[in-house]
Amino acid sequence: MSKPTFKIVGLKASVEGKEILKGVDLEVKGGEVHAVMGPNGTGKSTLASAIMGHPKYEVTEGQVLLNGEDVLEMEVDERARAGIFLAMQYPSEISGVTNADFMRSAINAKRGEGNEISLIKFIRMMEEKMKALEIDPQFMHRYLNEGFSGGEKKRNEILQMLMLEPSICILDEIDSGLDIDALKVVSEAVNSMRSEDRGFLIITHYQRLLNYIKPDFVHVMMQGRIVKSGGPELAERLEAEGYDWIKEELGIVDETVGQEEEEFKVPMNTTAPRFS
Ligand SMILES: Nc1ncnc2c1ncn2[C@@H]1O[C@H](COP(=O)(O)OP(=O)(O)O)[C@@H](O)[C@H]1O
Ligand SMILES: [Mg+2]
Repeated sequence: MSKPTFKIVGLKASVEGKEILKGVDLEVKGGEVHAVMGPNGTGKSTLASAIMGHPKYEVTEGQVLLNGEDVLEMEVDERARAGIFLAMQYPSEISGVTNADFMRSAINAKRGEGNEISLIKFIRMMEEKMKALEIDPQFMHRYLNEGFSGGEKKRNEILQMLMLEPSICILDEIDSGLDIDALKVVSEAVNSMRSEDRGFLIITHYQRLLNYIKPDFVHVMMQGRIVKSGGPELAERLEAEGYDWIKEELGIVDETVGQEEEEFKVPMNTTAPRFS
């Protein structure tokens, strides 16, 4: 594997006709860990979904390039095969498909026809990675995420990442729902994967995770844009002072995006129906 370059240029995206991403620029190279931070509702998950090609998110402008190749032209499964991985904030439950089946299909899809992993090799690999993440071996045979606790789902997302060895790893709020011990286990797994062949985009609204996974770059997202970038010291300042100083500095009153004041659309005048 060679050192990947992942580039997001002027990315705009809409959900249900509302523009959420308003021009995002970001470059992640192999060996780098970038943290994307920001309060809730600022467009962080939308960025992840738009990159992965979630059908609900329509990219209206801009580019996403992996090693110069146009990711936006690829089907969702092609994006995964090209080496982009997303650990979702809210992983879906898939009944009827076991964790092992799912993982084996994903690995084989990536390896391609005629190059499938042997069953014995696959099981050994999965057992080894589950052990590292302190996941109960029984979870191999459970339906994907069905009835998993929040923390178990997050570990399972990281298990997929360890198994698939992607070149660009996007982790969306991987720390939410994890207690401190689980956070350590997950962070160690992520850190064990840091290498020149791999770049990370770690989305979080808490600085806590970044005590365990040290970022090289920190970006703050507000109103569907990256409004500030810096080094790890930026995350430390956010931990100490919160986000308000950035809002003040940039003259931002409401940092969220896509939340029109729905309540004001409800008629409040005398033409509203009356029951008298
Ligand atoms: N699937 C969706 N359906 C409708 N609106 C959405 C959807 N995803 C995102 N949005 C809109 O985009 C805004 C930003 O959401 P999101 O990207 O999840 O923010 P964050 O991850 O920073 O909390 C939300 O406030 C919401 O209005
Ligand atoms: Mg989110």
